[in-house]
Amino acid sequence: MRGLMLADGRRVPVLGQGTWHMGEAREQRAAEVAALRHGLDLGMTLIDTAEMYGDGGGEAVVAEAIAGRRDEVFVVSKAYPQNAGRQSLPQACAGSLRRLRIERIDLYLLHWRGSIPLGESVAAFEALRAAGKIGAWGVSNFDAADMAELTGLPGGAACATNQVLYNPQARGIEFDLLAWAAARSMPLMAYSPVGQGGRLLRAPALRRVADRRGATPAQVALAWAVRHAGVIAIPKATTPAHVQENAAAAALTLDAADLAEIDAAFPPPQRKQPLAIL
Ligand SMILES: NC(=O)c1ccc[n+]([C@@H]2O[C@H](COP(=O)([O-])OP(=O)(O)OC[C@H]3O[C@@H](n4cnc5c(N)ncnc54)[C@H](OP(=O)(O)O)[C@@H]3O)[C@@H](O)[C@H]2O)c1
Repeated sequence: MRGLMLADGRRVPVLGQGTWHMGEAREQRAAEVAALRHGLDLGMTLIDTAEMYGDGGGEAVVAEAIAGRRDEVFVVSKAYPQNAGRQSLPQACAGSLRRLRIERIDLYLLHWRGSIPLGESVAAFEALRAAGKIGAWGVSNFDAADMAELTGLPGGAACATNQVLYNPQARGIEFDLLAWAAARSMPLMAYSPVGQGGRLLRAPALRRVADRRGATPAQVALAWAVRHAGVIAIPKATTPAHVQENAAAAALTLDAADLAEIDAAFPPPQRKQPLAIL
């Protein structure tokens, strides 16, 4: 699968796997583990989780899915904002490592901005990195002004990514954040790239492009998100057919006519929009 290089030299695929809502229901567990393993087999070797998902249950599902194949997988997890302090972050990280049953989180994110000063969080992330508990750190749900502030702090330029909502229904980042990140060679991670399987996938424009390309609307949405060189999309799927479909989307390249059709239905931003958040 097509990939991109992170600042620390590690290569990740442009399509990874999300895990929100996994680990919430016991009866779903086997299907969730199987879906993630299937996704790994198909090259979606980046897995995104968070201490928040299923109250730690999401990380436990990931642990089961990656057991015996840790070296194939790039693990991303996230800390609650209230856990991003000097003392709380090492504790939160230890909890995630324990649930994930790994020695090191490849990329550890601040889930969203809270009230702990950013400078303190940066220092806490850097200390974890120096201790080998994490490979790199980044943020999520940071708007352009937050990113400017963060990267201006001592150590803040080490931020490896910003994970944000991005799909044709939510393309405000195209006005500022996307170009800002590209100028710094900082990859962005697109969450909810298939619009959580809802209205987006029933949009006539996506359906028309999909029919023309012999693809599905979800594949069109994924190909659309990763058409930018620095974007990684992390669809979540438990249904085996969805996993298969999503992985195959990496081979789809949209042409100018496809993109124009999507633009007509979902116009790109003409002015600054506050960052959309779920
Ligand atoms: N940082 C943040 O604040 C934040 C916020 C939201 C999400 N995230 C991360 O991003 C990941 C993805 O976002 P998301 O889970 O919100 O939404 P999503 O990936 O856009 O959508 C997931 C939903 O779409 C369905 N689906 C997946 N592939 C499909 C396909 N090919 N065709 C039709 N339906 C499909 C899934 O169904 P099945 O499960 O039945 O296959 C699931 O119900 C999350 O899981 C999480 O890891 C991060």
